[in-house]
Amino acid sequence: MPNHIQHVVVPGTFDPVTLGHVDVINRARHLFPQVTVAVAESRTKHGTGTAFTLDERVEMLCQALEEQGVSKLGGVRVLPFTGLLVDFCREQGAGGVVKGLRAMTDFEYELQQADLNAHLAPDLESVFVMSNPGYGYVSSSIVRELASLGSDVGLLVPACVASRLREHYATE
Ligand code: PNS
Repeated sequence: MPNHIQHVVVPGTFDPVTLGHVDVINRARHLFPQVTVAVAESRTKHGTGTAFTLDERVEMLCQALEEQGVSKLGGVRVLPFTGLLVDFCREQGAGGVVKGLRAMTDFEYELQQADLNAHLAPDLESVFVMSNPGYGYVSSSIVRELASLGSDVGLLVPACVASRLREHYATE
């Protein structure tokens, strides 16, 4: 295991990115000098695919990090990925994966993924940050459900994402 991890990956589907995600990315950047936000294709997520394409999710993340002042810290980039997370981390030269934890329900799933990744890549460290309590109930699926029902999601997602959601569900 490396003594000092310089570069971490924050992976996710980000369908779409929420203020909870932005908080985790921001905190990862304060802990590590280089952060790559890895947007998974997740083609078969929940068996139904994603609401937004991979390109759209990458674009929304870039805009959200700019809007929320994370980009100005430097050392943060956003990349799409397909295939195994451990392979992507290896290709990018990242020494760790950072994820946010909300409730105990997240814990079971995240522990399983971390164990699997540790089995596949023993040198890759999994680091968890506790979600900001203000965003504990925020998830991409809750955001999509509220937005699809015409509810205002302005307190849950960056403004640029709220406007993309309005367009998306207005034209669906
Ligand atoms: O935001 P999500 O959907 O909880 O993120 C899950 C993600 C994309 C991090 C996870 O599904 C993943 O790492 N996918 C890449 C494929 C992979 O490596 N699978 C094995 C580890 S679970």
